[in-house]
Order: sequence, then structure tokens, then C-alpha cells
Amino acid sequence: MPRKREEEKGDDSANSIEDIAGPVTRKRLEELGITSIEHLAEFNVEELVELGLSYDTAVKLVQKAIELTGGVRPATARELAARQYKVFKTGVAQFDEKTPWKGIREAYIYEFAGEFGAGKSMLAHQLAVAAIKQGFTAKAVYIDTEGTFNPQLIQAIAKRFEADGEKAVDAIVVYQPVSVVQLERIVKYDLPRHIQEGCRLVVVDTITALYRAEFVGREQLAARQQRIHYLVDWLRRHARTFGVVSVLANQVMDIPEMFAAGIKRPAGGNVLAHAVNARFMMVRPSKQKLEGYMWALDVPGMSPEERIEYKIGEDGLR
Ligand SMILES: Nc1ncnc2c1ncn2[C@@H]1O[C@H](COP(=O)(O)OP(=O)(O)OP(=O)(O)O)[C@@H](O)[C@H]1O
Ligand SMILES: [Mg+2]
Repeated sequence: MPRKREEEKGDDSANSIEDIAGPVTRKRLEELGITSIEHLAEFNVEELVELGLSYDTAVKLVQKAIELTGGVRPATARELAARQYKVFKTGVAQFDEKTPWKGIREAYIYEFAGEFGAGKSMLAHQLAVAAIKQGFTAKAVYIDTEGTFNPQLIQAIAKRFEADGEKAVDAIVVYQPVSVVQLERIVKYDLPRHIQEGCRLVVVDTITALYRAEFVGREQLAARQQRIHYLVDWLRRHARTFGVVSVLANQVMDIPEMFAAGIKRPAGGNVLAHAVNARFMMVRPSKQKLEGYMWALDVPGMSPEERIEYKIGEDGLR
């Protein structure tokens, strides 16, 4: 659950890195884009040492940052049960009806896996517009690893939602990383700046493309898995600290032993399965038809038997 929201904190009382770090350390952190205590508190000691800080400094900084952001606060089971989460509607009617949160819930990591043409990118565009239109987020960060981001589609979806198309294209910040290192830097160092400016939604389309391209072959599989897990772990830290929602589009791969049956599973293996909070599979049975359905591969409180049907149009899914 997000602890420190910008709007709750009040800027005057906010602690700053200045209070806990000397000028040299501060300069190094600033160069990296670490400018808030909340952001600093997301790091672990080893990561700060890798960034060039001494071990002692790193330990001290992390401890202080955690203290100043209130530490890890417990809640009773009753408090957890009564907790209210911010939700936005997707505009996909059956999704908003049948999913446990009746839409997309704050501080969750969602995965939408599916074959080419299933509608993943369309849904990704749509969620960015919907979240802005409904005031869930001030802006959305769209990380496009496949080069398929489409501003015209944003405009078309905005029109459908009776949102201001110009405002929507301004409020969606697009990154197009070409390597895993670039992707990691965006998530670790750039996202927090947008979060400070009110961003509560990040889209990654797709989460696995760069890893599959860079870590090739069986012998690199373990390394690939670790790096994917590392990235999603950073998204988890942002979710816990700031309430940010992540929406991950994902490719699918054939299951060799099921090849003939055409059964597929999301790429990225088990680490991804464990790291996301809600996992959906999207299928479009016929490329001749603009319709598909999704089901809950792993969604708390939702049966995999339930089908969420959708239609594909030029202004998104419904
Ligand atoms: N303007 C449009 N009007 C109607 N249908 C469209 C339009 N644009 C795209 N589509 C259809 O929507 C489908 C879904 O597209 P989308 O890009 O969301 O798929 P995807 O799941 O992201 O696929 P990929 O794995 O190739 O990225 C496309 O295959 C196309 O058939
Ligand atoms: Mg796509």
C-alpha cells in the first residue's frame, strides 16, 4: 500500500536528501536522478555501492531514508480488509464488470499476454487514456519496446472517451528503449521523476521483447530470467512506495510438448508469473474477425473459467 503520496505529504514538511547526505554524495545521487527520500528508500545497499557510494555511506543512507519515510508500517487484517483502493475503468465492458476490482486497481502489476494481433497494444494505449481521463493519474509513462506506439490511436481513443485528445497526447510520455540497460535506467531513475509529477500508471509494451533479443539461447535463459525479475521488482517497489500501477503487455511462446495443440504460454517464464499481481491471457481466435476474449491466468479472486469477451475497433477495445 502506498505510504507517501505527494499530495498527502505537504511540501514544507518533506525531508530532503540534503538532510541526510553530504554534498559529494548528494551530487552523485542527483546525477543519477535520485532526488527524493522516497526514491532513495527504494534502493538496497548493494545497488548504491554499485553506483559508487562507499559501503558505510550506503548503509547509513538507506537506513535514514527508510526511517524518514515512516519505515514499514504494519496493519491489522481488519484494516487491510477495509482498505479502499483507487480504481479506473478500462472501457472494456466485461473487464469492468467481471474482474474483482471492476477495473484496474492502484499499486498492482498487471500482465496481458497474447499472440500478435490479440489487441495488447490497443489495450495498452486505451488504459493510458482511460486513466488520465478519469483522473486516476496526471500523466502516463508508456515504454514502447517494439516501436508500435501510435499517437493517432491515442487521439481516436480520447475521442471515444470524450476526453481532450490534445491533453491526452501531452500527458502521455513515451520512451522507446533499444536495450535492456536503457529500459532498466528508465524504470529505476526516470520514472520516479514522473511519479513526483503525479504519474500513477506505467505501461510496458512489451515486457519481454528486449530480453528475448539480448539473451539468446538456452545457456542465457537463467540470466534472462534474473534480469526480467529485476525490472519487475523495481516496478513492485514503485507500486509499494507510490501506488503506481504497471501494465505489462507480453508476448507468448509455444509450449514445445503442446505444439500440435497450439497451446501457448506467456514469455518470461515463472519469474514473471510470480512477480505480477494479475495475469490475463488474450486470444483472438480468427484474424478475420475483430473480436477476442481474455481469461484470468492468475488473478486473485477470479476463476480462469470466466471469459471476458471484447471487440476490436479503430478506437480501442470494448
Ligand atoms: N485502426 C484499426 N481499425 C481496426 N482494427 C485495427 C486497427 N488497428 C489495429 N487493428 C486490429 O487490431 C489488432 C490488434 O492490434 P494490436 O496492435 O493491439 O495487437 P497486439 O496484440 O499488440 O499484437 P502484436 O503482438 O503484433 O504487437 C490488429 O491486428 C488489427 O487487426
Ligand atoms: Mg503490440
